Amino acid sequence: MTSSPTAPQTQHPTTQHPTTQQDVRREASRRRTFAVISHPDAGKSTLTEALALHAQVINQAGAVHGKAGRRATVSDWMEMEQERGISITSAALQFAYEDQVINLVDTPGHSDFSEDTYRVLSAVDAAVMLVDAAKGLEPQTLKLFRVCKARGLPVITVINKWDRPGLDPLELLEQIQDQIKLVPTPLTWPVGIAGDFRGVLERRTGDYVAFTRTAGGATRAPEERMDAEAAAAREGDVWETALEESDLLASDGADHDQDLFLSGFTTPVLFASAISNFGVSSILRTLVELAPSAVPFRHGEPGEDGRPAQVREVDAPFSAFVFKVQAGMNTQHRDRVAFARVCSGVFERGMVVTHAQTGRPFATKYAQAIFGAERAVLDTAFPGDIIGLVNANALKIGDTIYVDEPVTYPPIATFAPEHFAVATAKDSGRFKQFRKGIEQLDSEGVVQVLRSDLRGAQSPVLAAVGPMQFEVAQARMESEFGAAIRLERLGYTQARRTDAASAPALASVRGVEVMERSDGTPLVLAPDKWRITVIERDHPELTLEPLIAGDQ
Ligand code: G4P
Repeated sequence: MTSSPTAPQTQHPTTQHPTTQQDVRREASRRRTFAVISHPDAGKSTLTEALALHAQVINQAGAVHGKAGRRATVSDWMEMEQERGISITSAALQFAYEDQVINLVDTPGHSDFSEDTYRVLSAVDAAVMLVDAAKGLEPQTLKLFRVCKARGLPVITVINKWDRPGLDPLELLEQIQDQIKLVPTPLTWPVGIAGDFRGVLERRTGDYVAFTRTAGGATRAPEERMDAEAAAAREGDVWETALEESDLLASDGADHDQDLFLSGFTTPVLFASAISNFGVSSILRTLVELAPSAVPFRHGEPGEDGRPAQVREVDAPFSAFVFKVQAGMNTQHRDRVAFARVCSGVFERGMVVTHAQTGRPFATKYAQAIFGAERAVLDTAFPGDIIGLVNANALKIGDTIYVDEPVTYPPIATFAPEHFAVATAKDSGRFKQFRKGIEQLDSEGVVQVLRSDLRGAQSPVLAAVGPMQFEVAQARMESEFGAAIRLERLGYTQARRTDAASAPALASVRGVEVMERSDGTPLVLAPDKWRITVIERDHPELTLEPLIAGDQ
């Protein structure tokens, strides 16, 4: 996948030099595919800009995400990507750093869309968790962190906003250790308290990296590297304090261990100020040196460890799975883009793949047809890359596409919804549009759709993790499908998975309701956790399971 002037140019594999398995292995090993997770306002957009700036994708901060006055550059870029038919901006930012290819997969900022973030986490090989130095661990961060842990996803922690007064660094580490049960292993240690950020002690080398502030942080922050002696002469007591604290960490066993990091037991910690571009190059270097390259994905029945037993190696024939579907990206035509993570092999634009869920062939040609003549530059994608397939209407979230050897990756688990509402068409004469719209929103994962014989097909229940999902559903039903809906909120806050054997007994319990989700999963809805506890106590024989590991 080629996204920007600096992204690596790859040979088109159908020319005289077909891509060999060795090429695929090499390309996969160069990929670092990750997402930044944080509580809103911790600085995700700012860090994304800063990372891109350091990697020299763009010359001036503000061209990636940005807000308010910086929007113009952003939309220009998006338009460009949309024309290409392979969208990068809204799904993944790809850039070259040193010899590696970095894919930064975007996650939504608002906590009501944490389920989207969860799906993104199923498509990446590592996560960067951003923590606001003044606020410490916040609810959204905690939830996502637990999900990473449950998935065994390696997490790099970045304590951001160190330029402003904040908590004590040791206290921040304690929060990570106590609340998430991950052992923090700082790679850098701040020199100067929060609000007086002078630089960092690089614990591996013992060097001091001093920062120099630049106007607005709009250019690369100059860093000056010096040895301990020079650092002591320059910073005096402040340097000594950093040294002492670092020694304390070492005696506490808080040093980096690559195996423990990769298996999700420890998290390397870095200190930064994204807005002033301090510590950003350390984050990139950490990604390149420590984060895993594109990992092979698992499939098939669960083995002894509960994980799918089979592995599709990265150099096997092409396969990918869809982790995000987005409609209406181009308001001119009602397009629909399916974003897929390449798991194995090489993707060549125009290739015919098999859609595992239907067994039907799917030509990626259409995506190619909407490219202009200059699109010849865009050609291939390798394991770890994200491809956007335009108007791939049959593809749903969690679906697999492949060539040659069949493979079906496991479906992406869903969060337990906490908000429920009965949807009815305002105009009963537009039921056909209503049904089509609900089906579409369901396939994109905008809301989950539940039904029961009791409520009937005319009034499905929409289930959401955050109430803002309802607003999106309501607006889109009206504007895109011409089927305005009425939503009547229900008093449930809990959902658990059950099975066909337990469903009838649960349906007769007072205050709870059993419904079937569109993927066939029977769910029990309850007003509160207490009611669930009572059922578990009174009917231990009935199946009641959390929807996702790490959730609840
Ligand atoms: P998000 O995507 O995680 O929601 O956060 P975003 O980058 O939008 O940053 C949230 C606010 O925090 C912004 O201020 C941003 O400038 C500020 N910020 C980000 N990184 C740092 C940092 O390292 N130090 C300090 N001091 N502030 C930081 P805002 O006032 O909400 O927006 P803006 O007017 O600055 O754009």
